[in-house]
Amino acid sequence: MTRLQKITLSMKETVLSGIRSTGNLHLGNYFGAIRNFVRMQHEYDCFYFVADWHSLTTHPHPKDLHTNVKTILSEYLACGIDPEVATLYVQSDVPEIAELYLLMNMNAYVGELQRTTTFKETIRKQPDNINAGLLTYPVLMATDIIIHKANKVPVGKDQEQNIEMARRFARRFNTIYETDYFPEPQGFNFSHNLIKIPGLDGTGKMGKSEGNAINLADDEKTIRKKVMSAVTDSGPQKKHQRPAGPIHNLFTLMEVVSTPDTVAHYRHLYAECGIRYGDMKKQLAEDILKVTLPIRERILQINSDSAYLRKVVRLGAEKARASAAKTLREVREIIGFKNF
Ligand code: TRP
Repeated sequence: MTRLQKITLSMKETVLSGIRSTGNLHLGNYFGAIRNFVRMQHEYDCFYFVADWHSLTTHPHPKDLHTNVKTILSEYLACGIDPEVATLYVQSDVPEIAELYLLMNMNAYVGELQRTTTFKETIRKQPDNINAGLLTYPVLMATDIIIHKANKVPVGKDQEQNIEMARRFARRFNTIYETDYFPEPQGFNFSHNLIKIPGLDGTGKMGKSEGNAINLADDEKTIRKKVMSAVTDSGPQKKHQRPAGPIHNLFTLMEVVSTPDTVAHYRHLYAECGIRYGDMKKQLAEDILKVTLPIRERILQINSDSAYLRKVVRLGAEKARASAAKTLREVREIIGFKNF
């Protein structure tokens, strides 16, 4: 490598993103996030991780924790993350994150954390387990990002507020210590407006916990069944009306997985009141399978290869810790810790 190449390399912007290890990855994760992770690995200095500490807010059973991490890891790899190119690691392998999180908590205010939309939603969903980890979730997430001084964070729309909080905490640290140490991270998506993948139940977005998701690891039969039982309506009432609600969602999904010709065909049938939802769903299932089946095969193969996974995780931890330790050393100095 020439000197110039080395300099150019080190000037690459840093990208970081993580996924909580709860359940399987679904189509929403794939099109909303992971596909972008894969595209970005060669252009940026990328850090991708499994957020297993974040998964503890919902108290997973000890016997499931490791399996959950392994699942997400295999799924990341199956989607095309290359551990030799990007830094792929497990959050709990990097204790430096816990220390920076402690430091960042000192500059986060309880009021602003309580006002976070995700916090308010979560306490509604799990009123019996409103733990402090939920409250400080955005602080841990901000720490994940700034510990590698990341500039760009490819995430789905639902994470926008968390990114905004990360920006705020980075800025606040800089203000308090009169420095420009942390860059302000930006949410990022290739199409510039973050894609929101709808679920199959006719309402909101596809989510792990909503029971409306198509998982990347689902087998053929399951996917056909899920798509065929997606919620529809009683059909268009008049010509050229705009599809609303569940049908709009089916078209959105189709736009993501099918060819433009296919979408145009069904849009035309809808506009002419000649659409049969059963046909549309069959086509949609076919096109979804074209995306997911090859990924599913790789998931199964990688998940059963313990030696490979061990190698990936060790390499990732080593690279992530080197980067995190450097930041932590500098932050300690900025805050005023000194060696005796
Ligand atoms: N909060 C994210 C989610 O629920 C996961 C996450 C944790 C994350 N830390 C992160 C995403 C840092 C991006 C950057 O999906």
